[in-house]
Amino acid sequence: MFKEQRDQKLDRFCFLAMGICFSARIKADTPPHTGVNSHYVSSDGNDMSLDGSKISSTSVPRTEGEILQSSNLKSFSFSDLKIATRNFRPDSVLGGGGFGSVFKGWIDENSFTAAKPGTGMIIAVKKLHQESYQGHREWLAEVNYLGQFSHPNLVKLIGYCLEDDYRLLVYEFMPRGSLENHLFRRGSYFQPLSWSLRLKVALGAAKGLAFLHSAEAKVIYRDFKTSNILLDANYNAKLSDFGLAKDGPTGDKSHVSTRVMGTYGYAAPEYLATGHLTAKSDVYSYGVVLLEMLSGRRAIDKNRPQGEHKLVEWSRPYLTNKRKVYRIIDNRLEGQYTMDVAQKVAILASRCISLEPKLRPKMEEIVKELEQLQDSSNMDNNHFKTRNGSRTRRRSAGDAGNKIANAAYPRPSASPPHSK
Ligand SMILES: Nc1ncnc2c1ncn2[C@@H]1O[C@H](COP(=O)(O)OP(=O)(O)O)[C@@H](O)[C@H]1O
Ligand SMILES: [Mg+2]
Repeated sequence: MFKEQRDQKLDRFCFLAMGICFSARIKADTPPHTGVNSHYVSSDGNDMSLDGSKISSTSVPRTEGEILQSSNLKSFSFSDLKIATRNFRPDSVLGGGGFGSVFKGWIDENSFTAAKPGTGMIIAVKKLHQESYQGHREWLAEVNYLGQFSHPNLVKLIGYCLEDDYRLLVYEFMPRGSLENHLFRRGSYFQPLSWSLRLKVALGAAKGLAFLHSAEAKVIYRDFKTSNILLDANYNAKLSDFGLAKDGPTGDKSHVSTRVMGTYGYAAPEYLATGHLTAKSDVYSYGVVLLEMLSGRRAIDKNRPQGEHKLVEWSRPYLTNKRKVYRIIDNRLEGQYTMDVAQKVAILASRCISLEPKLRPKMEEIVKELEQLQDSSNMDNNHFKTRNGSRTRRRSAGDAGNKIANAAYPRPSASPPHSK
């Protein structure tokens, strides 16, 4: 009952944890209530509005009405968003996942009313599938979290639409799309990301997660993966898609108990086995993404030879082996890094994917380490050599100054090689 990463219809899985999945999904698909002040009981036994209550330190559940009223978000009408996206034109689709599609649109930057395409401010509009209870939960979680947080490494939510069965979210437009596209989509538009940009993106995304885990926010993101890391014009990384985010444990609790949800290939093994969610589950997923950046391989890739399908399992023995680590490094990066820095990144990734959660570093520590690595990488930049002794080559995105297309970037329907 779980779907794989490349399944466009449902990129999240509901894992058969302790045999509860099937009934959980049936419950989750109960049609949503509409209107404010509704009270939900989720299938993992938690009050739905508990999912997002983190404004008060005592974790008193917030109702849907409270969530909507307390945010500084604009409430859009459906017809406004229909006009802004030119009736959700298929050729303006920016991406899509389990519970909806994301469209490009235009609004006036002052009045926030629909604007002519090409004028005013560009927005990304996520339209969740109608009549999906899970869709409603995810919508509310995003409004709840992104409505209260503001951080340079989290995508900005401008507003939402709640009208009849319609559930939409309006975000700032991220002109370079997702990290997934840059790492795995082939074609002239998406050039391979350079080593220095990969470090920059890894650091930005780590800062986003570190903020979520901080005492200020205390949130577990639960769906850290390349398609949820978006890039602005300067390759600053911002986390989006807070549909599965959850309040972290409070008091002396070590974890929160949840129905197991996430994306196959990224979820921490102990979370899959027990449903016990901690910040260290996010650190595991972070390690998987770091590995994807280092290797240019997807977390799960059935088109690879036997034994190489699961990136974590395949790469684990090489990560801490000084003589073999080069085998896992993306060969499109040749000439752009020093082995010393690459080895340190590999060791960091290997600590993140440790099977023992306590051995995984905290996100704050990862941020510090990556900052140091970025500094030494920059210092080396002009005169370092790879293990082969070849000079730095400049042929990657960013360094080559690739352009941002005016239209939506290539549609996700174009399947990249090596993926299902
Ligand atoms: N603000 C945005 N700007 C540009 N592209 C976006 C934006 N938000 C989402 N996308 C694109 O849509 C895809 C799916 O968005 P996401 O919020 O992750 O939805 P889902 O819940 O369906 O996974 C992203 O991977 C990205 O390619
Ligand atoms: Mg997503």
